[in-house]
Amino acid sequence: MLSILSRTAYCYVPSTLRSSRCIASLSALPETYQMLYKTCRDFAEQELKPNAAKYDRDHLYPKEAIKKMGELGLMAIATSEDLGGSGLDYLAYAIALEEISRGCASAGVIMSVNNSLYLGPLNHWGTDKQKQEFVTPFCTGDIVGCFALSEPGNGSDAGAASTTAKTKGDCWILNGTKCWITNGYESKASVVFATTDKSLKHRGISAFVVPKPINGLELGKKEDKLGIRGSSTCSLMFEDCEIPKENILGEPGFGFKIAMMTLDAGRIGIASQALGIAQASLDVAVEYASKRMAFGKPIMKLQAIQNKLADMALQLESARLLTWRAAWLKDNKKPYTKEAAMAKLAASEAATFLSHQCIQILGGMGYVSDMPAERHYRDARITEIYEGTSEIQRLVIAGQLIKEYGV
Ligand code: CAA
Repeated sequence: MLSILSRTAYCYVPSTLRSSRCIASLSALPETYQMLYKTCRDFAEQELKPNAAKYDRDHLYPKEAIKKMGELGLMAIATSEDLGGSGLDYLAYAIALEEISRGCASAGVIMSVNNSLYLGPLNHWGTDKQKQEFVTPFCTGDIVGCFALSEPGNGSDAGAASTTAKTKGDCWILNGTKCWITNGYESKASVVFATTDKSLKHRGISAFVVPKPINGLELGKKEDKLGIRGSSTCSLMFEDCEIPKENILGEPGFGFKIAMMTLDAGRIGIASQALGIAQASLDVAVEYASKRMAFGKPIMKLQAIQNKLADMALQLESARLLTWRAAWLKDNKKPYTKEAAMAKLAASEAATFLSHQCIQILGGMGYVSDMPAERHYRDARITEIYEGTSEIQRLVIAGQLIKEYGV
């Protein structure tokens, strides 16, 4: 914790908040979380918010901002300090990621994928040698990692992976295509899932860590997306790609469980990203409603607008509590699969709802790119899709509920 705070104090002396809005529940948390929040808030206000529209318009990867986030310790929040991370917990991660995403949702997902989907499984299942090579250099913000699970023929049905990994001497040979890979272009390594024995179905899937670039790995086109356009998404195409045998992560056949457990944690990250987008939408809506005059008064005084703002605040704060609860459960080593799915479901639907209502409050001004409302609306949409669609989250919640009832 000290490392992040000392770096923080050096780079960004926490300023007084620019607007009076602050997360009420934060004041109940230890001071370290409050300082982290302020640091991320200041960074997002100064470095991300002013540039987010440009990153979006020009499909610009925010390289410098990510590097600074690395200097602040944000690219490896829950990685231990001896490996170069910040040694903090998932609650800290959720708080930080929300504030970063409030400034720029693209920076948020880049941070989330590096922290949860890439470093998460390496921290947990990596050997000392793998950690040295594939964790420590990825903590600084200079380089990022990615996670390759989905394929053109299977997204939600992750157990149906058809990318293969076959042994040849001292190597694994990978063949197949992975798609929808966030950080696909910039990443210098990827956690890849491939089947080592198709007849075993999901129990034949193994996880590997693959350095990039490498012979036998081609990148597909950069996807032209509706939102989070500052982050890259592309396919990874493996053709006789040879990696050392020691690059398997965990035991052979344990890959599906690694993917599922990694996604449990990743969903807390996406929930936090969605909260950031939702909060940014509320900020815009309140500011606009307090200034825009209609019927002789600011529209904030109209009950129709007040009802909307109340519903927005309610959804946002309910989702935040679910997200913090999931993070707390993870930090306290309790089961949290259901709670992470609930957090992701509630927060992503809140982001969709709040960004929609924000446009409604702004009217025509919400529909044009002079204001950030339309970007928040576009950015929100993906949070209901990646790391498991809303439909998959409902499936996970129901599955856990059925287990709890023992029926
Ligand atoms: N933790 C640990 N183990 C788990 C688990 C969890 N959360 N969920 C399932 N498992 C285990 C089960 O216990 C079972 O184990 P056994 O083999 O020992 O019996 C095994 O995994 C299979 O479980 P299911 O029968 O429940 O698996 P399923 O095939 O029905 O699939 C699913 C379940 C929840 C639908 C899963 O496939 C899923 O999560 N799909 C969505 C995938 C997803 O989120 N993809 C996004 C990819 S990342 C991304 O978005 C790109 C990016 O870059 C951001």
